[in-house]
Formats: sequence, C-alpha cells, structure tokens
Amino acid sequence: MTTNNKEYSIVPLHRRPELIKDCCILLNSEWPRSETARLESLTVSCDKFPTCLILINKENRVLGHCKISLIPKLRHSCFIQSVIIDYKCRSQGLGSRLLHGAEDYVKRRGFKNVYLTTKGQEVFYLKNGYKTCDPFKAYGINDVVYSTAAFTKSKLKEKSIQFSGPPPPPMPNFRMPKFYDFNAIAHRTHMVKTLQ
Ligand SMILES: CC(C)(COP(=O)(O)OP(=O)(O)OC[C@H]1O[C@@H](n2cnc3c(N)ncnc32)[C@H](O)[C@@H]1OP(=O)(O)O)[C@@H](O)C(=O)NCCC(=O)NCCS
Repeated sequence: MTTNNKEYSIVPLHRRPELIKDCCILLNSEWPRSETARLESLTVSCDKFPTCLILINKENRVLGHCKISLIPKLRHSCFIQSVIIDYKCRSQGLGSRLLHGAEDYVKRRGFKNVYLTTKGQEVFYLKNGYKTCDPFKAYGINDVVYSTAAFTKSKLKEKSIQFSGPPPPPMPNFRMPKFYDFNAIAHRTHMVKTLQ
C-alpha cells in the first residue's frame, strides 16, 4: 500500500483481485476494449512490475488506476500509462493524488525517473511536475516497455525520416505489440519527471 488516509487508499491491484472487474469497467469507460483484452492487461499486475495501482475510497469503490512498467534499457526509470480517474470524480485532486502515490511507490523501489506519453493531458502532468522531453521508444501498450535513452535532437532528426515511411521490419526476437502504431506513438507528447 502506498497512500492511505481516511478517505482514499492506493493499492496494487493484485492485492485486491476482487476489484479487477471494477477496474476493467473504469478503464473501459474511457478506452473501450473487450473485457478479455482488458482483463489480460490487468492480470499481469505483480510486485515485480508491471504493477497496476488503483485508487479506492473507503467503500472500496475503484476511482482511479494507473499502470507502471519497467523500461528495460533505462536504469532507474519506469513508464506510467493508463492514468485514469472516474469521470464523476475528476477535478477534485484525485488524479494528482494517484500520480503522487505512484511516484512514492516507485521511489521506494529505487526508481529515479518516471516517463509517460500523453495526448491532451499535458497541462495536468505539467501541473504535477512533469516536463516535456525528447521522444523515447516506449511500446508500452501491451505491458512490456522497450526503450532506449532519450533521443538527442540530432537523432530525433534522423528518426523523423523513418516517421514518414513504414516502420522498419522487426528485429529478431522482438515481439511486436498487437496495437503497434508508430505514428500514434510518435505524435504523443513525451514527458518525464525526476523524483526528488
Ligand atoms: C487526466 C486525469 C487523470 C486528471 O484527473 P483529475 O482528478 O481530474 O486531476 P486533478 O483534479 O488532480 O487536477 C490537477 C490539476 O490539473 C488540472 N487538470 C486536470 N486535467 C486537466 C486537463 N485536461 N486540462 C487542463 N488542466 C487539467 C486541474 O485543473 C488541476 O489544476 P489545479 O491544481 O491548478 O487546480 C482525468 O482527467 C482523467 O482520468 N482523464 C481521462 C483519462 C486520461 O486522459 N488520462 C490521461 C492519459 S495520458
């Protein structure tokens, strides 16, 4: 458990398996997917990452969720995705509470940088201390995040040539995520927060 006060708690989903269906409903209210696919992406939650954290109230209602994954090639760094607060409970500070809870959780496990991508919620993350950064490879849609160090500006320029064409063929042993969409990933805002 990472955060606890009288009203709300932030807990790893795998510690509360009875709430997985409610979490599925919350996520599907914003990003509809089949229940099977959704459950598959949530049941991977474990202590060793990826870890799904849920924000619940004292009646055990699931009000928020985020998923934290490792970035294998970036030491001390993790990737947060699928940050969501129940639409009826937004603008009350719960999104920030969840994000800070997730940051505490990873900080206590030795992580120093939290990366994410967004399209449309930049202000929310800026208000929570995130800064925009150069694009990094983060194929985090299917639980595994592959990343290299943040590209330098010159590398980014090189990469933009690739953006205009089809994605390169997969490397041997590279598992292509089911929903791989190179352009969609490239056009999101990449952000990072260094934990103090
Ligand atoms: C993004 C989201 C998690 C924010 O949760 P929330 O509980 O409404 O956020 P908070 O109440 O903690 O807001 C914190 C600050 O960010 C601001 N903020 C939140 N969402 C914002 C938005 N979309 N645009 C501009 N500012 C925003 C709030 O006004 C608040 O500012 P303040 O501290 O000056 O009052 C929530 O809107 C959500 O679930 N959205 C749908 C899913 C989604 O898009 N997730 C992001 C995926 S990258």
